[in-house]
Amino acid sequence: MPYTFKKSLELFARAARVIPQGIPGHLTPVITVPGSYPYFAAKAKGCRFWDVDGNEFIDYMCGYGPMILGYAHEKVDEAYRKQARLGSCTSIATNLSVDLAEEITKTIDCADWVMFAKNGADATSMAVMLARGFTKRDKIVLAEEGYHGTQPWAGTNPVGITPTDRADILMVPWGDVNAFCEVMARHKGQVAGVMFTPYHHPVFADQRLPGPSYWPEMRRICDEHGIVLIIDDVRAGWRLDLRGSGHYFGIRPDLACYSKAMANGYAISALVGSERLRITASKAYFAGSFWCNAPEMAAAMACLEEMKAIDAPKVVKELGETLMKGLGERAAAHGLKVSITGPPAIPFMKFANETNFMRSQLFCGECASRGVFFHPHHNWFLSTAHTPQDIAQTLDAADEGFRVVKEKFGG
Ligand SMILES: Cc1ncc(COP(=O)(O)O)c(C=O)c1O
Repeated sequence: MPYTFKKSLELFARAARVIPQGIPGHLTPVITVPGSYPYFAAKAKGCRFWDVDGNEFIDYMCGYGPMILGYAHEKVDEAYRKQARLGSCTSIATNLSVDLAEEITKTIDCADWVMFAKNGADATSMAVMLARGFTKRDKIVLAEEGYHGTQPWAGTNPVGITPTDRADILMVPWGDVNAFCEVMARHKGQVAGVMFTPYHHPVFADQRLPGPSYWPEMRRICDEHGIVLIIDDVRAGWRLDLRGSGHYFGIRPDLACYSKAMANGYAISALVGSERLRITASKAYFAGSFWCNAPEMAAAMACLEEMKAIDAPKVVKELGETLMKGLGERAAAHGLKVSITGPPAIPFMKFANETNFMRSQLFCGECASRGVFFHPHHNWFLSTAHTPQDIAQTLDAADEGFRVVKEKFGG
């Protein structure tokens, strides 16, 4: 029996009166077919969540990445609760900041030191500051369609952003070494750093993995020009390799940014760096009222311990491979062409002949109405709480989704 979303829609009508956009930012439902998607969650456990209408979903967004071990994970939540009982936002730092920093420097291979914050955007902004502080230069190279947060320099939306905010940002296509070299030549001696994601995960498009020579080439060019190489590993970090996605793709960055899956849903981020950036990092001033909160750090310690114990990247990779293969086979059986791209742990599927995402929206809406939560134009995430049975159930729902797409669009 397909789901209905009456309470979600009623709540959205109330939300629209008191919250601009109703649900702003990346959780906005404007990307979905109205009435075919849940808007508000009531609870979540393992790889599933339940919406306010009581519908149950297998979740392939995992909170847009943070949930890697499953929602309401006993060990991580207990570590958080235990520490919270001892105080949360204390007036001085706790031993946990040292314990966690030591643990991260032992885990991520490019990390000689760690600075903590709350959001991924804090870490990427700190990285930009450090690159500029270290080189005494202004310009930062970013990739077109890359995402590093909503801060003005990252420029995701024109509203409220002035040309000055972006004056020192240079854009190149991700993965295009020649374009990068051209920009470096044109702005010789002015570029402080380059910030790229370890592989390309744009919205509305196929994901792209680097070829074997890409990162070594990038490293060589950065060294030649004396610029800081920053990997924004906020989205992919911990899912591909616990030593960092840089390690996974064979590159040692100068700075790398982490958040999302670091504490299985608790708000914490980290900027890690190499020895040569240490003095600049110790001179710069970064702070936030909540950045030293111990409960989130306790959650991160527990999450790291668990991810290591169960080899989380291996688990999510294998699950993702089953999902990707199954989706490809089911689509083909309906005579539909899909492209399934990215690392298996963070896959994305779109219809190959899609120009306006109507097929993807219909497909995801049909899956949502059958208990599977996909996103039509943002990459998906696997967690270690998904099981082969969940994937099998997902593929059955997807099969129906493909059938409806075929009926409506013919191919
Ligand atoms: C690659 C990347 N960098 C930075 C960010 C910003 O992180 P946050 O939303 O925690 O500020 C995100 C968030 O999706 C991201 O995917």
